[in-house]
Amino acid sequence: MAKTAVRGTFLDFVDDPYKHVGNEEAAARFQADGLLVVEDGVIVDFGAYDDIASTHSGVEITEIRDRIILPGFIDGHIHLPQTRVLGAYGEQLLPWLQKWVFPEEHKYSEREYAEEGTKHFFDNLLASGTTTAQTFTTGNLTCNEVFFEEASRRNMRMIAGLTGIDRHVPDYFANTPEQFYDDSRTLIEKWHGKGRNLYAITPRFGFGASNELLAACQKLKEEFPDLWINTHISENPAEVHGVLALHDDCHDYLGVYEKFGLVGPKFTGGHGVWLSNSEFRRFSEAGASVAFCPSSNLYLGSGLFRLGRALDPEHRVLVSYGTDMGGGNRFSLLNSLEDGYKVGMLNNTILDGSILPSEQDLAESERNKLSPLRAFYSITKGGAEALYIDDLVGSFDIGKEADFVALDWTAGPPATAWHQSLSYSDGPLTLETVSDLLFGVMMVGDERAVDQTWIAGELAYQKA
Ligand code: GUN
Ligand code: ZN
Repeated sequence: MAKTAVRGTFLDFVDDPYKHVGNEEAAARFQADGLLVVEDGVIVDFGAYDDIASTHSGVEITEIRDRIILPGFIDGHIHLPQTRVLGAYGEQLLPWLQKWVFPEEHKYSEREYAEEGTKHFFDNLLASGTTTAQTFTTGNLTCNEVFFEEASRRNMRMIAGLTGIDRHVPDYFANTPEQFYDDSRTLIEKWHGKGRNLYAITPRFGFGASNELLAACQKLKEEFPDLWINTHISENPAEVHGVLALHDDCHDYLGVYEKFGLVGPKFTGGHGVWLSNSEFRRFSEAGASVAFCPSSNLYLGSGLFRLGRALDPEHRVLVSYGTDMGGGNRFSLLNSLEDGYKVGMLNNTILDGSILPSEQDLAESERNKLSPLRAFYSITKGGAEALYIDDLVGSFDIGKEADFVALDWTAGPPATAWHQSLSYSDGPLTLETVSDLLFGVMMVGDERAVDQTWIAGELAYQKA
């Protein structure tokens, strides 16, 4: 494939802004007029246009004007077969699963139904600027085959796996541990590392997993140590109580996964709303990650994730952001950032000590504040680090795969323009201006701000 290049305004991250309190700009890399050079889907050069353009004479350049170009967004936790149950009314997690989710997901055993839902799923990802997602499927082989086929057609860097459940589930939707093991193995051998597909051993959650199912996960991880492990943890209080009743030899929810040797690097627990300080510490020590799913945690009434606690620098937990669509009611990670900001502000009502002075923790409170640089780091490089794919995606470093998104800070509801006029009136973009515009995109705008999404150096979505 010939070399191609994109010229425009670029922002990515070279470090974690949470490590630079008061000076977050030090973690960002801003090119007001930059050039990104791509060959075979991979970034081969990146820098200021004036510095590097002459070394690439003859390369065809696409100019993207009046946009902010960021690495593609990374969704750490989403559900393929919930595409058609977005916005289901009235229930918290456990009754919501029974009433809305299991009946819908079961339909994905039928190839045609799965193919149509999967097409909509990927179209929505691209329209949201999401280029990578760690994805739950169902426990059915056909559904998973359809997923990996479509991911391959789109050439997107995806992580997914057969999603097993054998407790607290209707018979028609239950796996057996043997079938879970056999079908997972079939999929691993066929799809893991094929094209851009990566495989995650996926026990749905502790509340839906027998010891035998978890033992099958352990066996798979021992046989294929480079696989990911993706699950849910401590999302809802009724779920947590149920897990401790089902696994009564374990002290806490994380202990269930620890017992089967699942918790380490490449392990993601979705939600983590009710994790104890001890569990956060064990996540940190193991190099495991939590997927923070603020839109879902609000929509299903699960609770307020203690982001500032998870990010305690002494025991820093790796955190990705997940839409958890359809537990979350939006596909767009921009909405997750909006909700994440609000969750942090709500947490701080306790941490500022105004209710109970003994609860005051100003350092944790500071970490709850989701600045725009923290936010966009978290859904790009930070998400990639949490998922252990930062050698592949998440920034514009040379050698990374060329997935990126071009944001139009003027698009969206009319109020976007009012916000934007506070911070910007033409003239050259600076990092400070771009940060303000990005805060406007996440708090006032929506996925209409996603103008283009590029996959492996090719335009995959253009807003109509
Ligand atoms: N826990 C187990 N399954 C699910 C699911 O589909 N969505 C959410 N939000 N939590 C879960
Ligand atoms: Zn989920």
